[in-house]
Amino acid sequence: MTQLITDKPTLASLLMQWRQQGESSALVPTMGSIHAGHLALIQTANSLADHVIVTIFVNPTQFAADEDFDLYPRTLDADMAAIRSAGGTDVVFAPQSMYAPDHATNIIPGGVALDLETKHRPHFFMGVATIVMKLFMQVPTDIAIFGEKDYQQLAVIRQMVRDLDVPVDIISHPTVREFDGLALSSRNSYLSPDQRKLAPQLYATLCDVAGNILEGNDPLALIDTATKSLLDAGFDKIDYFDLRDGNSLAPVQAYEPENRLLIAALLGETRLIDNIALGSH
Ligand code: PAJ
Repeated sequence: MTQLITDKPTLASLLMQWRQQGESSALVPTMGSIHAGHLALIQTANSLADHVIVTIFVNPTQFAADEDFDLYPRTLDADMAAIRSAGGTDVVFAPQSMYAPDHATNIIPGGVALDLETKHRPHFFMGVATIVMKLFMQVPTDIAIFGEKDYQQLAVIRQMVRDLDVPVDIISHPTVREFDGLALSSRNSYLSPDQRKLAPQLYATLCDVAGNILEGNDPLALIDTATKSLLDAGFDKIDYFDLRDGNSLAPVQAYEPENRLLIAALLGETRLIDNIALGSH
């Protein structure tokens, strides 16, 4: 039976009880609109800890004024049903609000947060880091699970936990994809039928470029050609398409299995991100 909790004291007493009984717990932070990607994280959490808490909160501070905060799907009943039918968790924590009206303290991540997403969404990782830290404080679990789908976000959270000595183990989960390769995302619901047909080209292109880098071709030239092909195919803008070190996210030019191709592209107003490790296929 998955319990829906919306207030901090009920959650805190449950966590205290588990801790006193010597039982482990795992946190899966989400913004809801639960899909099979989230459910895979939840199933992994269930396999790693005695108790699992999924949080659902559409975090206003990670959206810029011109972004989709108002539009973002809020589907708590369907989310509860999806989580329960996938085996359930102990708790879904869905707070009404997470910020006091006079909230004024934020985490400004550096290092892996600089560049890539930050060039296009300068506010984004401050919002993510601050809300994730608040969740770590309110829901202190042994482990927390994040998806590789948001690879830079995962790196930012790992660095924050290291830098600030947060006592939680960060576990990553591989990207879950549709049958045609499109990475599952709550934002896929914004795509028109024509855009949905084009969207899998993002992953196909990543695989193509990775294969060609493995064969010894020049990554910069490959990325340049692939960017042009995506624009020709109907993508409206490529925010970035880069080869980076899988840990530091520093730019790299050579084949290493852990090096990552990361891409952010616009189909109409919808922004899609994806990434793969060069050695992953
Ligand atoms: P959200 O987009 O709801 O994603 C919640 C978690 O699910 C993140 O760790 C994300 O990487 C993971 N996820 C999403 N799609 C996935 C997929 N196709 N495969 C594997 N994992 C996937 O990311 C956020 O929310 C927010 O920024 C949050 C961390 C909750 C802070 O507000």
